[in-house]
Amino acid sequence: MKNLTIVQNPLILRDITYLRHKETKEYQFRAALKRIAFSLVVEISKSFPVVEIDVETPLEKTIGHKIKSEVILVPVLRAGLALVDAFIEMIPYAKVGHIGLQRNEETLEPVEYYYKTPKELATSKVIVLDPMLATGGSASAAFSFLKQRGAKDLIFASLIAAPEGVKKLSADHPEIPIYTASLDRQLNQQGYIVPGLGDAGDRTFGTL
Ligand code: PRP
Ligand code: URA
Repeated sequence: MKNLTIVQNPLILRDITYLRHKETKEYQFRAALKRIAFSLVVEISKSFPVVEIDVETPLEKTIGHKIKSEVILVPVLRAGLALVDAFIEMIPYAKVGHIGLQRNEETLEPVEYYYKTPKELATSKVIVLDPMLATGGSASAAFSFLKQRGAKDLIFASLIAAPEGVKKLSADHPEIPIYTASLDRQLNQQGYIVPGLGDAGDRTFGTL
């Protein structure tokens, strides 16, 4: 799993615990998820190319830095939406595309129901956002759709991953770096990550 980065710090460990706890309310869930997203974006940004630029302080001229790449964030609807705010606060110039994928709970296959992305896909760093990487079907399909439409420089940001999902995504798209805050034990019979946090979309939006 050489393309997998598990991002951890004490704040993430605390917040993952809030996310897992079954009594956590939606507003607490969204807040913890957003805080983890800040840690993820900082880690992911380490792969961004920077160029030196001149800058003049009130005292003298010096060298500053500018991020070279354009960035497109692509949340996978619905649960991926919960990660957008933190990413956009840290990368304010980022454009945002959307992919709607719903997992068929019987076949566990992803079905596309919405697609809209900015036209600069081929020249941008494209970060797909989805808190859960379970079977890997949704993430793998999202990357296939994006590649078909020209995206080349792709990254996956998640909160909790199952080994099965990491394996599938790495097999289908071996060049894509996967970032997650926790690699959990396994999938259960229903395709849920265990120990996991339940259904991320339902817990974010209160549709349980
Ligand atoms: C969840 C999650 C991922 C997908 C992961 O979405 O947000 O998109 O399941 O499962 P997979 O790796 O097995 O494909 P879901 O289909 O429940 O839709 P929702 O976000 O609208 O709740
Ligand atoms: N989708 C979720 O929201 N949670 C899981 O555990 C698996 C898929």
